[in-house]
Amino acid sequence: SRRASQSVTLRSERPCFGIAFDIDGVILGGNAPIGGSRQALKRLYDECGTLRVPYVFLTNGGGIPETKRARQLSELLEVSILPSQVIQGHSPFRLLLNRFMDKLIVAVGKGEPAQVMSEYGYRRVLSIDEYASYFDDIDPVSQYKTWAGKTTYDADMKSKAMVPRYDVFSERVQAAFIVSDPYDWSRDIQVLCDILRSGGLPGKVAEHGHQLPLYFAADDLEYQAAFPSERLGMGAFRIALESIFNRIHPNALEYTSFGKPNSFVFKNAENVLKKLPPFSFIDSYADNHEKSQPFKTLYMIGDNPPVDIKGAKQAGRPWFSILTRTGVFKGKSNHAEFPADLVVDSVEEAVDFILKKES
Ligand code: G3P
Ligand code: MG
Repeated sequence: SRRASQSVTLRSERPCFGIAFDIDGVILGGNAPIGGSRQALKRLYDECGTLRVPYVFLTNGGGIPETKRARQLSELLEVSILPSQVIQGHSPFRLLLNRFMDKLIVAVGKGEPAQVMSEYGYRRVLSIDEYASYFDDIDPVSQYKTWAGKTTYDADMKSKAMVPRYDVFSERVQAAFIVSDPYDWSRDIQVLCDILRSGGLPGKVAEHGHQLPLYFAADDLEYQAAFPSERLGMGAFRIALESIFNRIHPNALEYTSFGKPNSFVFKNAENVLKKLPPFSFIDSYADNHEKSQPFKTLYMIGDNPPVDIKGAKQAGRPWFSILTRTGVFKGKSNHAEFPADLVVDSVEEAVDFILKKES
């Protein structure tokens, strides 16, 4: 405790505010920094590169483990970002570990969905690429898909003998997780319908009427990528799957969506912000003495009104919403249905506003 008190006197207290940055349409457009994001982030560190304002990325995107995403973002944005500062749509999938740790599960989406789940501790997970590859003819139009054979999974696995790692022909899949944006909608809808209506054994008849659990990392209808107008997101895929499933199955599709605008995502971001180094040791010191100060203001900087702004509004105090014009929202004034507390042109302007207000 002597060391802790010395450190406390050496370092300044944690600021009474923090920031959550949306990524797509605020920090990045596709893979390129936008809106002066590099310069904006640099201002949150001191001359030695130590964090002086607690901040996190709060994105509904994902597809790669938080450790790897933190490395990629650090390179792209030229600041040192910790894995704990990266909260992705699928990050709360960790919370379901107790239920499915040793169960056979299928992970769907671009990037490395199975690795994401393995890093969370799931022991028996197959990507939908790998899973579908074990069932001959499950996708009747696969021969027309010129990209088939070029996925991460295929590059790794096609050379190896195609013996399933699990007995997928007799062992039922227990849950499906949509980790990131699916890139082969026709196959994924087909295979998910197969899994869901057969109780986890494509081509077989279900044993009982219960649908196995289905989880989506987020429910964004649209998001901003590199193309000038919005792109269809995971919510659009969900609608497609749901509409089709509900036409071919007597019971309506049951599912759970995570990500913004759910209030628990904002609560979790607040907890993560509280624990960020170099402020966390002050907290643990304070925890043993007097309770650490709660944040007075947490700023959510986003581009998508029904997702980022609605979410911050619903979360209530201490959240303050800032809407940028670099993404989904392109209007002149405020959004009509989900007005933000402040509208700015870019993330650089948002950070400028925050630092002036808090100085
Ligand atoms: O696929 C990503 C997208 O749905 C949203 O990302 O960073 O704008 O929350 P973001
Ligand atoms: Mg966005």
